[in-house]
Amino acid sequence: MSHEFPIADRMRLLDASGIRKVFDLAAKLDDPINLSIGQPDFDVPPAALEQAIAAMRAGNNKYTQTQGTRELREAIQALLADEFGWSDPPPVLVTSGVSGALLLAMLVLLNPGDEVILLDPYFVMYRHLAHLAGATPVYVDTYPDFRPHPERIAAAITPRTRLLLLNSPCNPTGAVYTREELEAIAELARAHDLLVVSDEIYDAFCYDEPFVSMAGLYENTLLMRGFSKAYAMTGWRLGWCTGPTNVIEKMTMLQQYSFVCAPSMAQAAGLAALKTDVSAHVADYHRKRDMVADALGGTFGLVRPGGAFYAFVPAPNGKTATEFVTEVIANNLLVIPGNVFSNADTHFRLSYATTDEKLTEGLEVLKKLA
Ligand SMILES: Cc1ncc(COP(=O)(O)O)c(C=O)c1O
Repeated sequence: MSHEFPIADRMRLLDASGIRKVFDLAAKLDDPINLSIGQPDFDVPPAALEQAIAAMRAGNNKYTQTQGTRELREAIQALLADEFGWSDPPPVLVTSGVSGALLLAMLVLLNPGDEVILLDPYFVMYRHLAHLAGATPVYVDTYPDFRPHPERIAAAITPRTRLLLLNSPCNPTGAVYTREELEAIAELARAHDLLVVSDEIYDAFCYDEPFVSMAGLYENTLLMRGFSKAYAMTGWRLGWCTGPTNVIEKMTMLQQYSFVCAPSMAQAAGLAALKTDVSAHVADYHRKRDMVADALGGTFGLVRPGGAFYAFVPAPNGKTATEFVTEVIANNLLVIPGNVFSNADTHFRLSYATTDEKLTEGLEVLKKLA
């Protein structure tokens, strides 16, 4: 190997060691029961696939407008008008996944030293993107019930707070925030003139109550949604963002100088995807959620997740998550220790986006170990 090149200071706080350890252990297994995957096990809607192929055959293989094709933006704005009753929806930016929107937002909104409130456990990317922007993540503990506890959020707000990041339904806990909880947070955000980033990538996967969006309750919401989960398009890199006009404009400018645009064929597919009914898949994951909650509710004391396709399960027998997950992996089952998503090492994340057979096998292993 050649010598080590100097790496920029901003990379100093990025760390992938937790998840790498899991992958290293996992690499030694052949054909493990894999309950670690963060994407659906169904395939892209056929109409979306056909639309992408037709678009490519018709020569739509070039850059699109940075903000996304007019057709897709108009379809998203129609959806916003319908969902929120907005007569004049704000501008929409089509992004390279919600990940792309998150990166743009953090870089556009945060100065070094600014604080970003994250609810712990959190989607792992938030912490790292905040660090990349030079900002300081401030963690609000949501254990043991994974509710967003407005009074705890209030206690974390300082004059340096610039953003509050919400993710409902939540990865990794599966928690879905209620209208009352979101209204209380909206009131708090309004009092402090805070921008709320609402990552709603799992909005389609709500099992007990209808989904409630922060964007309908609070005017200064930067709303992010995507195609990765509802339409199983993780590899297509398509998402979108809407919110305060000046923020969307600056994010669009930065997209021009970074991603340029979301993939053109994915944008064509996205139009078809939006017209697809995914309720059968959601019903299937609802049933799997019940399988998990029934199997692990008693022995493990799992808090019943209301959405997404994850359960965040306490490690049993007084073990740390890392200790328990090491044992689990030795039994040919893959799950992710909670310290990948959290400052605590007490829980593990199980994804039930898999077949009934694999899920049943995995749950049996867990029950045996407990
Ligand atoms: C909470 C959350 N936000 C964002 C993303 C990224 O999604 P995308 O594929 O749209 O970039 C994920 C993917 O796992 C996620 O779980």
